[in-house]
Formats: sequence, structure tokens, C-alpha cells
Amino acid sequence: MSENKNNIAKLSLPNGNSYELPIHSGTIGPDVIEIKKLYSDSDHFTYDPGFTSTGSCKSDITYIDGDKGVLLHRGYRIEDLADNCDYLEVAYLLLNGELPNKLQKSAFDNKITTHTMVHEQLALFFRGFRRDAHAMAVMCGVVGALSAFYHDSTDITDPSQRLVASHRLVAKVPTIAAMAYKFSLGQPFIYPRNDLTYSENFLHMMFSVPAEEYKIDPVLAKAMDKILILHADHEQNASTSTVRLAGSSGANPFACISAGIASLWGPSHGGANEAVIHMLNNIQKTGNVHEYVKKAKDPNDPFRLMGFGHRVYKNYDPRATVMKKTADEVLKAVGKENEPMFKLARELEKIALEDEYFISKKLYPNVDFYSGVILQAMGFPSSIFTVLFAVARTVGWVAQWNEMIEDPEQRIGRPRQLYTGSSERDFINIQNRI
Ligand code: SDX
Repeated sequence: MSENKNNIAKLSLPNGNSYELPIHSGTIGPDVIEIKKLYSDSDHFTYDPGFTSTGSCKSDITYIDGDKGVLLHRGYRIEDLADNCDYLEVAYLLLNGELPNKLQKSAFDNKITTHTMVHEQLALFFRGFRRDAHAMAVMCGVVGALSAFYHDSTDITDPSQRLVASHRLVAKVPTIAAMAYKFSLGQPFIYPRNDLTYSENFLHMMFSVPAEEYKIDPVLAKAMDKILILHADHEQNASTSTVRLAGSSGANPFACISAGIASLWGPSHGGANEAVIHMLNNIQKTGNVHEYVKKAKDPNDPFRLMGFGHRVYKNYDPRATVMKKTADEVLKAVGKENEPMFKLARELEKIALEDEYFISKKLYPNVDFYSGVILQAMGFPSSIFTVLFAVARTVGWVAQWNEMIEDPEQRIGRPRQLYTGSSERDFINIQNRI
């Protein structure tokens, strides 16, 4: 971050005071106006509900240009990473800042692979849940419970412990996700295998049963890699900001990632992929796609077109483009190229993109619009879709959490407010209250 001496913003207040605020430039993207001292100097807070115009930190990890629909991870285009890497290659990039060479890649693969098993007693945790518990509820609980098992990697001031915790989280979250799915089915947990790649292992733990050999379809394994890559990190979104805020208090990494899972669960965020499928099912039942588009446009109707719109992208989400292409490949591979749900999704997209409401508000399909169609075709139930998002995003959360801890500028996050409640008033005993 460079402070440009000529770059000073001037703020004048009605009381006649004025303030000079430094402007900083990053590598690319908007400059920032530093307001760290504004309150102490002016006794004023800034006000930005939803943080639409607020930069919470500086970061080297991910850059988004919402107007151009560009997404870079450590400078590399998401399209190039999705087409040429496997998930652990991108995970290495997010965590270390550079793409790995062959030796680094194989050492990293081995490091993650040898952490995929969980403590055997963790399996007992699942018994406390109802079989029909939402898998994200199970994920919040069990991932948070890792803090109770891995005490040797909870001291966040020790870089070696942070490294072990980072590897454990990337390695164990898929195992726990698969256990949550198996638990919901009443099927036995499937242990990870060290001879499989990350995505192959995940499909194996999700879909194999002891009674017969599970054959991994390479097309599905490749699609799994792509889907995980497309969801791996995305700048300072709600769940990543939650992880950073939890981490800023010094909470242990397992607890912070559990907080991120909780935030991701919301239908406005990672829960949208599940909501898209429910929406498409409802549209299929009523057969009236135009009715739903009309509801989405009605300011008095809380219904929104799930999988559409984005706080940052005011253009096509580049991940949705790759996702749509992957949907074609997967549906062909599983013999569902005429899948009605996919056809309906493409029809809905066409209608929305030609509609003045969506055009004027710059609402385009986001990462969640097509992911559900693929995941359903791959055999995942919609209740697991957001869990898959959490599996993929864990490495992004961990990379951002490490960056936050290593940033000398970072302190405990503690926003202020515009107070609109009662001013001070006298207490009245209950006997005297009407
Ligand atoms: C993710 O932040 C990230 O990076 C998130 C994510 C990641 O990788 O981490 O990209 C993942 O969360 C993707 C988004 C998934 N959510 C959905 O698909 C849910 C549907 N989308 C909306 O809820 C909404 O678009 C949000 C939540 C995504 C963004 O909301 P904003 O930025 O607060 O935008 P807004 O609500 O202020 O909308 C602006 C206008 C509003 O109309 P007006 O009040 O100006 O009249 O657009 C309208 C909204 O009503 N609008 C929609 C709409 N999204 C916004 N109208 C109909 N359907 C929609 N989907």
C-alpha cells in the first residue's frame, strides 16, 4: 500500500472544522481514504451499514473488479486457475502467494492427505444430532469442536501451530462434511484414502458404501475440482469478514472457521445455492417462470431471484460463466444433457438478462445460480450444497485469517454505531409502573 503525499482528502464539517485524510493506493483497484483517526480528531463516526463503501483491511489474496467481472487470486484469473489447476494447487496459491512447482505441489498434497483423518472420538459427536439436522448445523458444531481435540494447534501466536491448524482445517473439513452426509443417511462413515486426490477422496467419502467398490468417474472428479476452485475465496465477503472479526479477538482457528460456516449458511450468501434449487423446483411445479420474475421485481414482495445479483459484481460473475460450462460437461457425462432443471435455469437467465429491472440494477447470475444444477446432477442432495461451499471456502477463510494475524495493522475489530435509542431517563420501580 502506498501513501501518495499529494493524495489527501479534505473533510469540512458544519462546525467549521476541517480534516485532512490520507489516501492510499493499492496495486490495482479503488484507492482508500484512511479514517482511522477521524473519531479521535472530530468526535464523528462514519456510517456505512453493510459496509458498501468500507475497506476493512488490506489484502494480497483476492482482487475483484465488479464492473468488469474480473476475479484474480494472487493475480491469476479465476478462469485460468479453474481450467488448469486442481483444487490443492489453488489452495497452495491462496495460502502461500505463489503457484507451487512440482516438488512443492507433491509435498503439499502429501501434507494435506496425511491430515484427512479425524480423531476417532469426533465420530461420537454426530450421535448428539438428529438424523434430519441440517448438515450446516452439524458442520458448525463439529468443526468448532475440533478446538477440543487439537490443542497443539490453537496458539495463534505460534506460526508453526497456525500452519498445522491451517493444514488440518483444509484436510479435515471435507472428511467432516462427508461424515455429516453419511450420518443423515444412516450409512457408516467412510474413511479417507491416501491414494486418492482431494476431490476423488471427497467423492469417495460421500458416495462409497462398504458393500461394494465405488468407481470414481474422472469427469465428476474434475468437475468437483473446478467447483471447489470457483468457491475457494472471494475477498472480504460476509463469511470471510466473520472469520477475520472472530480471529481479531485471538479466538482459535477452529472456532473462527466455525463462525465462518455459520455466516455462510445464510440464503443471501452461501445458502443461495440450495435456495436456487428450491426456487427452480417451485417454478417447475407452477410452470410459470414469468410469475417468479414478476415477484422478484415487486418491491413489496420479499422474494428475490436466488442466484442473481451481487454486492460487488455489476456484471456477469466470472465464476458463473465457468460453472455454466461445467454444467454442460457434467450433464453430458451423466447422460442428463436434457435435464429440465438446467433448461429452466437457462430460460430464467435469458428472461432476466433481457428484463429492464435486472438490466438497470445490474443483476446478473452469480456463482450460486448454476452450481446447484451441477451438484444435483452429481448426486448431491440440495441440503449438502452449502456444505460443499464451506468445504471449498475453508482454504480462503484460513488464508485470510493467517493474513489478518500477520498484519501488524490489525487490532481487535470493534465497530461503533449511530445511537438512536432513548436518552438517559430515571429508573421506575416495578411497583410504580403502569
Ligand atoms: C454469494 O460477497 C460475496 O462475495 C459473496 C459470494 C462469495 O463468493 O463469497 O459471491 C457468494 O453470497 C453470492 C450471492 C448469493 N446470494 C443470492 O444469490 C441471493 C439473491 N441475491 C440478493 O439477495 C442480493 O443480490 C445480494 C444479497 C447478493 C446482494 O445484495 P446487496 O448488495 O445488498 O444489493 P441490494 O440488496 O442493495 O440490491 C440492490 C437492488 C435492490 O433493489 P432496490 O432496493 O434498489 O430497489 O437490487 C435488488 C434489490 O431489491 N436486488 C434483487 C436481487 N438482488 C438485488 N432483486 C431481485 N432479485 C435479486 N436477486
